Amino acid sequence: MPIPLYLDTDPGIDDALALAYLLNSPEIDLVGIGTVSGNIDSVTGARNALDLLHLAGHPEIPVAVGAYDPEVGEYRGGAPHVHGRNGIGNVTLEPSSLDPIPESAAEMIIALSHRYAGTLRILAIGPLTNLAVALDLDPTLPGRIDDVIVMGGAVLRAGNVTAVSEANIHNDPEAAAAVFAASWHITLAPLDLTMQHTLGDAERAELGAASSAMLRSVADMLDYYLDFYAGVLGERRCALHDPLAAALACGTIEVTSGPTVPVTVDVSDGLDRGRTICELTEGPDGYADVPGGNTRVVLDIADPFAPHLLDRLIANTDFEVNLQK
Ligand code: BDR
Ligand code: CA
Repeated sequence: MPIPLYLDTDPGIDDALALAYLLNSPEIDLVGIGTVSGNIDSVTGARNALDLLHLAGHPEIPVAVGAYDPEVGEYRGGAPHVHGRNGIGNVTLEPSSLDPIPESAAEMIIALSHRYAGTLRILAIGPLTNLAVALDLDPTLPGRIDDVIVMGGAVLRAGNVTAVSEANIHNDPEAAAAVFAASWHITLAPLDLTMQHTLGDAERAELGAASSAMLRSVADMLDYYLDFYAGVLGERRCALHDPLAAALACGTIEVTSGPTVPVTVDVSDGLDRGRTICELTEGPDGYADVPGGNTRVVLDIADPFAPHLLDRLIANTDFEVNLQK
């Protein structure tokens, strides 16, 4: 039986790639999507999600608009220099005729947690505001969740917004602090993992030649993302942040370093604001699990990720097309 999965997202170019991965993964059943302000505001993000689902031939997946502002302060306008003015690299998609559902993303999380009690996985690849709102609305929520997979944080390396903070945590540190403090199991994909796995123009060309219209549009978006990352990495290769978290949620990649430890988030107003503090402890075989910890911090995986990503996207979509012929 596929595992029911709720996606919380700020689409987002790498979010779009993660969505493509999920739609091609038989291990999970994508039962709902909620948006949050991050790369783009949550209202525009919901339109992006609906348009991507339309393009992918999955209009049946409901989309809920989530929090516009973080827990403290106001949304500050996203990351147009990274993801474009519209969040998806300034690519225009054919518009879906559908609208988001009337419920908020937090309400959708709670409803799904009852429908799939004990088995629902939450994959969060944007700021954690919706999850924090859901915890406020219903503190019993963690007892019905199988795992919360989060892309975020910088553990043993620099952040990508400040010296210590990563974008998803930086955009709502108070929400992140509440999510890590809750009594559920979390799997964390920090920058330490996601900056190790990149995609370049050769892979983009493969996606651009795929039979799937969604993949071809994602390839167009990636041109913008590669332009931004060329300034960071010194070559046209981009980090695979959100797709890696998606693969962890599907259980399709082998973790070789993933200690389970307590994690806290700095919510001070100082230079450490938004820092994820993971209580790593040396053991005989690398980092050890820490009693009382609830977060598996994934620092390394067994194999290069980009070939797996490409195989799955292209082989599966071509398989679908072949079935339709
Ligand atoms: C994270 O921030 C966003 O820009 C990406 O979509 C990813 O979720 C990487 O720091
Ligand atoms: Ca994201």
